[in-house]
Amino acid sequence: MKLTADQLRDKYLSFFASKGHAVISGASLIPENDPTVLFTTAGMHPLVPYLLGERHPSGTRLTDVQKCVRTGDIDAVGDSCHLTFFEMLGNWSLGDYFKKEAITWSFEFLTQHLGFSPDQLSVTVFAGEDGIPRDEESIAIWKSLGIPEARIHALPKEDNWWGPAGATGPCGPDTEMFIDNGQPACGPACRPGCRCGKYIEIWNDVFMQYNKTAEGTYEPLKQHNVDTGMGVERTICMMNGCATVFETELFAPLMAQIKALSTVRPEEESAVRAERIIADHMRTSVFILGDPKGGVKPGNVGANYVLRRLIRRSVRYAKLLGIAPGYTRSLAEIVIDNYKHVYPELEKNRETVIGELTAEEERFEKTLTAGQREFDKVAGALKQHGQTTLSGRTAFKLYDTYGFPLEFTEELAAELGLAVDRAGYEEAFKKHQELSKQGDATFKGGLADNTVATTRLHTATHLLHKALQMVLGPHAQQKGSNITPERLRFDFSHSEKMTPEQLKQVEEIVNDAIRRNLPVTMETMTIEEAKARGATALFAAKYGEQVKVYAAGDFSMEVCGGPHAATTGELGGFKIQKEESSSAGVRRIKAVITAKE
Ligand code: ALA
Repeated sequence: MKLTADQLRDKYLSFFASKGHAVISGASLIPENDPTVLFTTAGMHPLVPYLLGERHPSGTRLTDVQKCVRTGDIDAVGDSCHLTFFEMLGNWSLGDYFKKEAITWSFEFLTQHLGFSPDQLSVTVFAGEDGIPRDEESIAIWKSLGIPEARIHALPKEDNWWGPAGATGPCGPDTEMFIDNGQPACGPACRPGCRCGKYIEIWNDVFMQYNKTAEGTYEPLKQHNVDTGMGVERTICMMNGCATVFETELFAPLMAQIKALSTVRPEEESAVRAERIIADHMRTSVFILGDPKGGVKPGNVGANYVLRRLIRRSVRYAKLLGIAPGYTRSLAEIVIDNYKHVYPELEKNRETVIGELTAEEERFEKTLTAGQREFDKVAGALKQHGQTTLSGRTAFKLYDTYGFPLEFTEELAAELGLAVDRAGYEEAFKKHQELSKQGDATFKGGLADNTVATTRLHTATHLLHKALQMVLGPHAQQKGSNITPERLRFDFSHSEKMTPEQLKQVEEIVNDAIRRNLPVTMETMTIEEAKARGATALFAAKYGEQVKVYAAGDFSMEVCGGPHAATTGELGGFKIQKEESSSAGVRRIKAVITAKE
């Protein structure tokens, strides 16, 4: 049966609606209130509290389409079906139905609504491990539906256990459904899960009946849940008889444009891989930049770093195909046009998406050639001397001077059979940070210590100070500050309790400055000059001949001893926990940031 992605989404949701499921909206790609993961990686992610027992307002049977980003498989992108962004169709039972209904409905939908023949279907189930028994129940259900034993494969935890999405949370054994694309087996050991491409996994039913604790143990959950995920791209690929997901309507216009822009054709296999990587990474970058929650821009930490890595990796592969600079614009336009009817946020954010993408492309263009030259020189010398490892110092230089993400250097190195000294890189990184903090050691300015956390909170204090002045007026001046690795405390002159709106506004201004990932820079000057430049200074304080002035981009400027984060993006996010009176005419704010150590 031929089906478009639009039709597939509709069919899926109406099928599960007909089985009593409430159709809910998919969530943002940027997880809400969850600093432990960078992106939403599965449909279950936004539902974790409900899988753990909280009541969902829409009931115990839910279905939706969820945008997902997974970078764990980034190295596999280039084959027929691995992607860093994909859409997941899902249906959930929150302590409602269990294995029998889940598997029966999966089978019914695949065979009666999508028209797959039961003969094309192979499944895997959990073989039992760690004291958790083999999933006999699922095996029996599949058999009762007519799947012969030879096409039911019991596999270990590594294959047939899903979750938790982060370090802890709901998880359980699963049963995965594969479509055999009809190509010959690659060998006698070929089975679902084999990477040769014969078996394409399109759906996973997870039986979430355990909670993985911080201690690493699995405790039974109060309720038995079902969490399923079907990949839109792979399913329409199989339904339309496409050999790869890149031939489906979701990629075809993008692939055509990449081919049209290419001026060089390297050896076939690497050309095809390059085209797919560019298409995948561009599509993912457009969805991250166009997300309704917003805020992820190319940068050096966390989600920002992932985005930077995707864009820069795509630029490198574009070079391989002789694609001229400026290509990101036309590719982004195509992705937006292809998806805007389903994800209107892409149209709404078109200018931002294209602006950020082209700016990052330009930034990298500027240093790519020089960096590549540096890499070639070092790698050439190593090869000549029969050495196999690129030093951490070189990798750090490529990062610091030329903007090469570490993984990117590792990839270049691997192509030449070289490894990169990761530990050495981390060491060089730390040393650099320490050096830039040296000289600031005597100034602790309210800091309990000099850990990364307190340093970042100190930068947050500057952003907060500025935001308070913007919202309340210039009278809101610092009266005191105390920082521990967990939180900041900031006292400032203001005579009334702040309203919830004012607090929200302050929070938003600070978070906006964080999202802009502003560089934090320091200059030494006289106090007069600092004041003339508009730097905030504490009038009661005594200053020496020369003072240090820290600026967070164009946002704030303050006379201060440091130390500070290198960029505001490092702070991750900012949240006010409390606003209270400190003394007459002085208010006190306690706040935290969400960045990890
Ligand atoms: N959460 C399951 C998966 O991502 C359905 O495969």
